[in-house]
Amino acid sequence: MLPNIDFTSTEAYRKLVERYEILKDKNIKDLFQEDPYRFEKYSVLLDDLLFDYSKNRLDEETFSLLIQLAQECRLEEAIDAMFSGKKINVTEGRPVLHTALRNQASHPIYVDGEDVMPKVRKVLAHMKDFVSRILSGEWKGYKGDTITDVVNIGIGGSDLGPVMVTEALKPYKTHLNVHFVSNVDGTHIAETLKKVNPATTLFLIASKTFTTQETMANAHTAKAWFLQSGATEQDVAKHFVALSTNEKGVAAFGIDTKNMFEFWDWVGGRYSLWSAIGLSIALGIGFDNFEELLKGAYEADVHFRHTTFEKNIPVIMAVLGVWYNNFFGAESHAILPYDQYLHRFAAYFQQGDMESNGKYVDRNGNRVNYQTGPIIWGEPGTNGQHAFYQLIHQGTKLIPCDFIAPAVSHNAIGNHHQLLLSNFFAQTEALMNGKTEEEVVNELKQAGKSEEEIEKIKAYKIFEGNRPTNSFLLKKITPKTLGMLIALYEHKIFVQGVIWNIYSFDQWGVELGKQLANKILPELDNEEVVLSHDSSTNGLINQYKAWR
Ligand code: F6P
Repeated sequence: MLPNIDFTSTEAYRKLVERYEILKDKNIKDLFQEDPYRFEKYSVLLDDLLFDYSKNRLDEETFSLLIQLAQECRLEEAIDAMFSGKKINVTEGRPVLHTALRNQASHPIYVDGEDVMPKVRKVLAHMKDFVSRILSGEWKGYKGDTITDVVNIGIGGSDLGPVMVTEALKPYKTHLNVHFVSNVDGTHIAETLKKVNPATTLFLIASKTFTTQETMANAHTAKAWFLQSGATEQDVAKHFVALSTNEKGVAAFGIDTKNMFEFWDWVGGRYSLWSAIGLSIALGIGFDNFEELLKGAYEADVHFRHTTFEKNIPVIMAVLGVWYNNFFGAESHAILPYDQYLHRFAAYFQQGDMESNGKYVDRNGNRVNYQTGPIIWGEPGTNGQHAFYQLIHQGTKLIPCDFIAPAVSHNAIGNHHQLLLSNFFAQTEALMNGKTEEEVVNELKQAGKSEEEIEKIKAYKIFEGNRPTNSFLLKKITPKTLGMLIALYEHKIFVQGVIWNIYSFDQWGVELGKQLANKILPELDNEEVVLSHDSSTNGLINQYKAWR
């Protein structure tokens, strides 16, 4: 299905180990001085997106070895296997075809001999019709009102993507107010229900499986709240729709399956915003904009599938990640958007990346003896600058960072955007250049400090620099450029999974906690002292019972 190669046994890996010995003491700043064409060499322009990876600890020899590594891991074969619907999610026996959801080409895509494209288009047409009926006001609530608010109830992949995109594309907002409820903490649904009116609210129950505890609890609470307002069971059809693969579960909940927007088991939860799970996005920004999002992602798919690895953005992002993760020992990777609308982008890719590549078992069922997925984190700049950048600049950990910014803001107020972008440009430069002892001493001298004062303080003011960064400069955050950006990150994750020889599309690790929670739940129903766990868990449960 997928090639099964231990990347540490490849020729490229062996040579990269040697290369690391040379590059580890090399300064990015010096690499720029040695090569006046460094930016031209190490940047790719894809439509309205510029990817600059020149500020990395990388030279020509290393870059070609990293590309060779991808080749030796038979990445090309893996890409083909994914796009053509092979069952590369082996542990669940499924293909991985989120790319089919945004496929704009006319060729068929087969799963078990069936072309999936007609059903993909059918659901899109259903979504389009539904969005138009809601937005035009043709769809009426149980009291005859038009819909003003949409509440998406889902968690993980059935929440994070829609939240992130809806926030990122707020400038394209329709008249609907879209809310998201994910946490099983009753506070989340309670606070949301305070803001909406049952007669004008549409609930989207978003769950691939339609069994997820958190989502089902929130959905039942929403339904009870709706019925308490005087609505009847028949009225539920006007206010509740389902986004799911589980028709039986949807019917059992009491949602008319005519109001179910289907998707399929070959769409992974964390890759599902392109599917019916994107209905909240389509309602929030309009169907045409949702289609633009799909088109942008499709462009990235075409780029990924057909561009030579040396110019292939997701491949380059991925091999650079491998370089830092497996050779420099970097443990995390920061995503730093210089755009307030992208404030959930890093959170979204925490699931995308960490649920995909947080695995220690390889494709032979053995424990790996190398590092796999990094810790993904980040917040929008410049807030991050005043919070955690200190550690990136002067901490003991190497943190490769992605900087993301639009050239054109949706809110051109005074010189705000120039202020923002001056920080975006300055940070990657500062992280690379640092500040030498000489610069620090000169600065302090100019500030009138004595020799003695300078000696005392200078060590703290020196910045080693040599911190690697990628920069993504987008013309503007539009549905299309956002779709493209998301898809590039998705493919990066895929490439890394191929190289690390792990299965990126299952998530068994999430199961254990769920199972234990189900075991504990009945123990909380009574006042009996619990003794069935370790002493810590027993102690915590029993104190909870005493205090509640
Ligand atoms: O967290 C585990 C997980 O299975 C995710 O992969 C998924 O996105 C989420 O739960 C929600 O699942 P569902 O859409 O089936 O409710």
